[in-house]
Amino acid sequence: MRLLEGRVNRPAGRRAVIPLLYSEGVWRFLFVAMCAGQMQAASPVTFYRDALPILQRRCQECHRPGEAGPMPLVTYNQTRPWAKAIRAAVVNRRMPPWFADPCCGKFANDRTLSKDEVDTLAQWVEDGAVAGDVNDAPRLRSWPEKGNIESPDALLEMPRPFAVPAKGELEYQRFKLATGFNGDRWVQAVEVRPGARRAIHHVVVYIREPGETWTKGPTTSDMLAVYAPGSLPVEWTRGMAKLIPKGSDLVMEIHYTPYGRAVEDRTSVAMRFAKTPSSKRVLSLQLHKLALAIPPGESDYRVNVWGTLPNDALLLSLFPHMHLRGKAFEYTVSREGAPPETLLRISRYNFHWQLSYRLAQPILLKKGSRISATAWYDNSANNPLNPDPKIEVHWGEQSREEMMVGFFDVAVDPAFDRKSFFVRE
Ligand code: HEC
Repeated sequence: MRLLEGRVNRPAGRRAVIPLLYSEGVWRFLFVAMCAGQMQAASPVTFYRDALPILQRRCQECHRPGEAGPMPLVTYNQTRPWAKAIRAAVVNRRMPPWFADPCCGKFANDRTLSKDEVDTLAQWVEDGAVAGDVNDAPRLRSWPEKGNIESPDALLEMPRPFAVPAKGELEYQRFKLATGFNGDRWVQAVEVRPGARRAIHHVVVYIREPGETWTKGPTTSDMLAVYAPGSLPVEWTRGMAKLIPKGSDLVMEIHYTPYGRAVEDRTSVAMRFAKTPSSKRVLSLQLHKLALAIPPGESDYRVNVWGTLPNDALLLSLFPHMHLRGKAFEYTVSREGAPPETLLRISRYNFHWQLSYRLAQPILLKKGSRISATAWYDNSANNPLNPDPKIEVHWGEQSREEMMVGFFDVAVDPAFDRKSFFVRE
């Protein structure tokens, strides 16, 4: 998440004392530190000095105007009315959204707050949620004008707005975006910018290469980007990028979910290109199980699917996808000469947050490595999201139906295209 964590905030007063202890004459500074510690204990935790840096670092990516969070947490006046809710949300670990079980894997975009961050926010609220001295405030964190990619190299928009009705169920809609690129493009960073955010359940942007003519139904085209609430732009490490071959179109597939108000949507895709051709091509692959038959009332229905990599690949990220009955999900990998390893475990899957988990360190998977995905479903009446516990559930596009997909991104030798990586059961 390098893109979004550009600036490290000035540390809060309390913590600034500690490095002195180690770096300078111990006794003199120990005395200073103790005095500072006592003063701290007496004065309340304040918004400007203590809470705001955490909000900037951890919350404003979503809680600012125009983004996914329902209210901005930028100024004191905006934040103060939410103080109690903030305390509850961080103490219960409902916010920021993050679902990877700490047992397994390390992720570059891990949003988990440190204990210190939780304690500071909670203490700020317990101390009366005071503003404090505005001179203690970190500089206002600056964000791009729109979206999260500053001055993109390309911004492609749906050709015309789509009218989303107030109610009903819509089939997936597909829109062609002509690129007009006069050569190959290596995409270093990409962001889907939803138009009518509330009416959009998810967006998938496919790269339809020259000669491909599909307009509906499943496709084997590579995905450039996936958006769902909580998604942020993806930026690949230098030297790795998505390829849009010359002459390709983008096809934007959108699942609209009406919410009681007729609205118009015009979603766009922003991209930043790599300056030079990349030595690795990023491909999005998937393991999926189409043959789903989840019995009515079943609370722990397990589905497993696995595939073998036909070529060497560097595993970059994981993105599990299920619908309302999704309960848990897990990826494991088996490499030659090593015991199977759990890469990601989500013990409490949450349909409303479709997140991508980016490995802190890419993992080299040699040709022949086996990657496996397991999903669990709760089709019982105890699942509060279950739209109907009395039916057998099958694969389908709508949220009342189910899916079982384990997406994963790999970086490969650019000589390979996606077809040479298609993973089968
Ligand atoms: C990835 C985006 C994202 C991040 C990061 C995020 N939020 Fe949220 N937040 C949301 C969205 C969307 C909602 C509304 C839906 C919901 O409640 O799940 C929400 C709801 C809330 C609510 C009100 C509802 C409730 O459950 O109490 C609070 C309070 C809140 N967030 C606080 C925070 C704080 C504090 C942080 C940072 C420590 C944070 N959020 C980080 C997206 C985010």
